[in-house]
Amino acid sequence: MTTANTFTFKNNTLHIENVALDKVAEAFDTPCYVYSKSALTDAFEAFNAGFANSQHLVCFAVKSNPSLAILNLFARLGAGFDIVSGGELARVIAAGGDPAKVVFSGVGKTADEMRAALEAGIFCFNVESASELVRLNDIAGYMGKIAPVSLRVNPNVDAKTHPYISTGLKNNKFGVAYEDALDIYLQAATMPNISIHGVDCHIGSQITELSPFLDAFDRVLALVDKLDEVGIDIQHIDLGGGIGICYSDETPPDFFAYASAMQEKLGTRKIKLVFEPGRALVGNAGILLTKVEYLKHTESKNFAIVDAAMNDLMRPALYDAYHAIEAVKPRDEATRNYEIVGPVCESGDFLGHDRDLALAEGDLLAVMSAGAYGMSMASNYNTRPRAAEVMVDGEQCHLIRKREIVADLFAGESVLPGA
Ligand code: LLP
Repeated sequence: MTTANTFTFKNNTLHIENVALDKVAEAFDTPCYVYSKSALTDAFEAFNAGFANSQHLVCFAVKSNPSLAILNLFARLGAGFDIVSGGELARVIAAGGDPAKVVFSGVGKTADEMRAALEAGIFCFNVESASELVRLNDIAGYMGKIAPVSLRVNPNVDAKTHPYISTGLKNNKFGVAYEDALDIYLQAATMPNISIHGVDCHIGSQITELSPFLDAFDRVLALVDKLDEVGIDIQHIDLGGGIGICYSDETPPDFFAYASAMQEKLGTRKIKLVFEPGRALVGNAGILLTKVEYLKHTESKNFAIVDAAMNDLMRPALYDAYHAIEAVKPRDEATRNYEIVGPVCESGDFLGHDRDLALAEGDLLAVMSAGAYGMSMASNYNTRPRAAEVMVDGEQCHLIRKREIVADLFAGESVLPGA
């Protein structure tokens, strides 16, 4: 979700809130991620408001954007967090998040990660296999703790999204098969250091229709009723994340429609609802700012070679994902059809195909909708330092992560002795 006035043109210059993006480039250089504090705040508050009348917890999916400043902003707004590693737990704690509002998802939790989460006193482990349950019970027993647990069930619904980000079908590695869930709950109920708190599911990401969420919820509720019959009381249902955003012309369900539909399905049951939205809270609150280094006109294509690359924003290369690209200062000249590419030595290194733009070398471009799974998936491929991150608040710009320098990239390396 983006507030209507997050990105606007004033004096023919693209602004984020009240700051012109060319000024951000002057101050912090490019490539650079730029986020709007008000868009982040509005998105969280809008999501939360939909559930104002029911017991709920919104756990921001840290993987979508783990910046400390963003986690801290959400923590101050009352968010919990969905984590998938010990590293993300450490980030949440460093950002001032409350471990008692943390859910821990993921198919491969290590013993160390379980210990750290038990020590921190998290809200719930979203357990994804029978073996994980056994390990968690052992570790909690060793520590003299009781682990709060939900089982992530795989409701076998089609999220109708990109296959790489669909997780609720039965051939995925995630969760336990729906048919096995009751048995595993019964096993869990016999484990002395496990306390059953909830049922969890997450069916995929960038979902733009309500129906897959509703189908999954139906299946989860049927399981909750079966559990009730065998005397297992469920206190919360975690419905995961996955609400899509508009990158070009998608029409994802708005938060209010999503919240009303979910609450209607829950009916009068006294069960807390937990959500794990990532992209929907941050995706359209940030852009990747980049500069055109070279223009290259060949017989068949025009290339704009920019200073951001697939290492900064993987989504186009990895999923063939579309991100709108805007000139920061549009030129009133004839456009050409461009391939917007980075300097990395791979043909898959593109940020956009087939874009009609009027460009000159040195121009700035904003790669839109880059707040989710942008910086969080950045790498150092081609020994490229990762970009800076800036948060804009009204007229103010705050550097929230400084640009890496090349020396950082090999600081932990060494050569063989005597070589
Ligand atoms: N909860 C769990 C257990 C997840 O695995 C995910 C995302 C979320 C919540 C948050 O989903 P969201 O609300 O952001 O859709 N890199 C891909 C997206 C991968 C999503 C992985 N899991 C992309 O750039 O599209």
